[in-house]
Amino acid sequence: MQLTRISFPTAKKLSARRLVAPCFEGSLPVLGAAGTEVDKALEDCTKQPDWQAKTGQIARISLPSDRTVELHGLGLEKDFGTEKLVRWLATVIKAAETQRDDRIALFLPAHSSAQGNAAAVRILRQLALSRYRFDDFRSTSDSAPLRAVQVVVPERESRNYRQAASEALAVAEGIAWSRDLGNTPPNVATPSWMAARCRSLAREHGLKCRVLGVSDLRKKGMGGILAVGGGSANSAKMVRLEWGRRGPIVALVGKGVTFDTGGISIKPAADMDEMKYDKCGACTALGVVRAAVRADLGVRLRVYLPLAENMPSSKAYRPGDIVRCYNKKTVEVLNTDAEGRLILADALAWAVEEKPDQMIEYSTLTGASMVALGDFAGALFTPSDRIATGLLTSAEEAGERLWRMPMWPEYVEQMKGNHADLKNAGERWGGACTAAAFLSQFVGDHSAWAHLDIAGPAMASRPKGATGYGVALTFRWLQRLAKEAQEA
Ligand code: BES
Ligand code: MN
Ligand code: ZN
Repeated sequence: MQLTRISFPTAKKLSARRLVAPCFEGSLPVLGAAGTEVDKALEDCTKQPDWQAKTGQIARISLPSDRTVELHGLGLEKDFGTEKLVRWLATVIKAAETQRDDRIALFLPAHSSAQGNAAAVRILRQLALSRYRFDDFRSTSDSAPLRAVQVVVPERESRNYRQAASEALAVAEGIAWSRDLGNTPPNVATPSWMAARCRSLAREHGLKCRVLGVSDLRKKGMGGILAVGGGSANSAKMVRLEWGRRGPIVALVGKGVTFDTGGISIKPAADMDEMKYDKCGACTALGVVRAAVRADLGVRLRVYLPLAENMPSSKAYRPGDIVRCYNKKTVEVLNTDAEGRLILADALAWAVEEKPDQMIEYSTLTGASMVALGDFAGALFTPSDRIATGLLTSAEEAGERLWRMPMWPEYVEQMKGNHADLKNAGERWGGACTAAAFLSQFVGDHSAWAHLDIAGPAMASRPKGATGYGVALTFRWLQRLAKEAQEA
């Protein structure tokens, strides 16, 4: 995992061989920051005969010093915004790769979409992650990563960007690690491998780490995770991490199904490889911790990760089984493919027993959440309007899509069991909502909690890969909590 280096050099120190600057339709590029040679070239770009600064238009001039100055049209200023900025940065990065530039100098537009802390963090994070690849399992790699970006911002944003850089790098590091873990194949990333990664994180950064194995889980009465993990030779683990000395106590819970075959209620073969991403909830929680530790946020984190592999075998749990979870509630298994909620039941019950101030849980829980929202948004379930507002605002600022879903009592009704307190699968409709309703039965009367169903946004489809979704929005939310606590 390597991040693209970001620097803010002065005009004279712009050493990159390609300099990219933006320009709106009907205006001139912002000059003055890059030395006379570059300024002159930028001005000359606008004098090229067909220059209009339409979106996607590029004018180029080669300097005698073997450097190229590129002016990129951004279209009309009034139509420009965050989405367009993100897309523009993506094309600039892509072009740098195709042209095998290992460094570029990038001028950012003097526009509200590039101003203020949230925008700066968002932009620098995107640049820092531009060279992210998952090449650990290739014998050769032909990618030409962008190693460094020299960022030039309008004078009055200069301080803001310098301050945002360390935050952005912390978040980028968390996201990159989360992706690495998510992308690691299921023959390597078993529950015990994941637990070992947690142990090394803990060792490196001074966290407390506890790993429960099967016999510990039995002693504790965690029948959900034991049932789900029972069919696999790679036995289940439950990890608990703890970090921080000041600020509010936040519990993070993440679904870590290292591979989901569906178990006895086996899944169809097509695209089953994608079920290695069923551990992405746990990976998001771990990415958040890494970023929070790196940035030394003023919060106390407790992380609970139920890790299990859902396999069919003679030892596997079956439809019809009744299991007893950590909070003593019993669940009738109707479908062994609804395994996430069973392992989360134990983890959530344990987490609330330790009375956190707030609790967020991440899981690639239901296909139904993707039917509802597509694959670019997470589904947010929470009984707390305060948490909803905080998370939705943070998501907006971080550039991650999140949408609130209902938690009506009718959904809970549907999850009552025939011969047990609950059943693990409801009727066909509203599957994301009934799954959330099921989880709510394991948090007792703790109201400050949220469930994020990230089945869609946790993985990208072309090319396939873990995204690290949720790290950025949670980081921002934790920052907000820390600040509120400090001010109180
Ligand atoms: N891990 C899946 C959900 C999933 C599906 C994530 C597709 C990403 C892509 C989960 O364990 C599952 O199988 N859920 C079932 C629940 C059903 C059996 C009640 C589903 O969504 O079909
Ligand atoms: Mn499943
Ligand atoms: Zn699953």
